[in-house]
Amino acid sequence: MKILVTGANRGLGLALAANAVQRGHVVLAGVRNPAQNTEKLTMLCERYPQQVALVPLDVASDESVRFTAEKADDRYQVLDAIVNNAGVLSERYHTIEELSMEETVRTFQINVFGPMRVVKYFLPLLRQGTRASIVNISSEAGSITNAIGGNYAYSMSKTALNMFSEQLSVALREAGIPVYAVHPGWMQTDMGGQDAAIDPYVTANGILDLIEGKKVVTSRFVFIDYRGTPMVI
Ligand SMILES: NC(=O)c1ccc[n+]([C@@H]2O[C@H](COP(=O)([O-])OP(=O)(O)OC[C@H]3O[C@@H](n4cnc5c(N)ncnc54)[C@H](OP(=O)(O)O)[C@@H]3O)[C@@H](O)[C@H]2O)c1
Repeated sequence: MKILVTGANRGLGLALAANAVQRGHVVLAGVRNPAQNTEKLTMLCERYPQQVALVPLDVASDESVRFTAEKADDRYQVLDAIVNNAGVLSERYHTIEELSMEETVRTFQINVFGPMRVVKYFLPLLRQGTRASIVNISSEAGSITNAIGGNYAYSMSKTALNMFSEQLSVALREAGIPVYAVHPGWMQTDMGGQDAAIDPYVTANGILDLIEGKKVVTSRFVFIDYRGTPMVI
C-alpha cells in the first residue's frame, strides 16, 4: 500500500512510518520543515530508499499541501491511505481570561484545517487507491461527554476533527472509503511525555491493522481508539 503520514519526523508519525515500512508498504513521510529534527526519518529513508520518501508538508499552509499533492500525483498517481497525524497541544490549563487567541487559532490551523487541507488536495489520489481509507488522529480530549475543563484550544480542535471525520465518512461512503477519528492512547512522545502508558509503536500497529482491513470496526460513530474500540463522543 502507499500511505501518506503527516508529522512523520517524530512521535507517532515516525513510529507509523517505521512500522509501515516493516510491513512492506511505501510511505510518503510528510514533514513540516525538512531541515529540522528529521535525523531519524532520514535514517529510515536511507535504509529503505525504495519505500520511504520524505516530503515537505506543512499542514498549516495551503500552498505547501497543494504543492506536495501535485508532486505526489506526478510520481505515484495513487494513494491507499492518509494518516492525518500532525498535531499540536498548547494553551493547556489556561483559563479563558489567560487564553491566547493567536495560539488557539494556530491550533485549529494545524489540528483541524490541516487534515481538511490534506484530504482536499490528496483525495483524487486516494480515489485511485485499493481498499483506501483515511485515519485522522484525534484524542480522548475531544470527547464532549468526558470534558474535564481547562483545555480549550486542544480539546475543541479534536472535537471539531471528530465532526470533520463524521461528515467526511458520510460523504465518502458511496466511494467505499472509510474514515476513522482515532484516539491513539497516552503515548511516550514529546507530546505525551515519558511517563505515558503506551509505546507509539504499539499504537502504530493498531492503526496499520485498521488500514490493512485486519480489524472489523462496528462502531456507530467514527471516533474509535487504536484497537478499533468505540470512543465516547
Ligand atoms: N502523545 C499522546 O499521548 C497523544 C494523546 C492523544 C492524541 N495525540 C495525538 O497524536 C498525534 C501525534 O502526537 P505525538 O504525541 O506524536 O506528538 P509530537 O511528538 O509532539 O509530534 C507532533 C508532530 O506533528 C508535527 N507538526 C506540528 N505542526 C505541524 C505542521 N504545521 N505541519 C506538519 N507537521 C506538523 C510535528 O512536526 P515538527 O517536529 O516539525 O514540529 C511532529 O512531527 C497528534 O495529533 C496528537 O494530538 C497524542
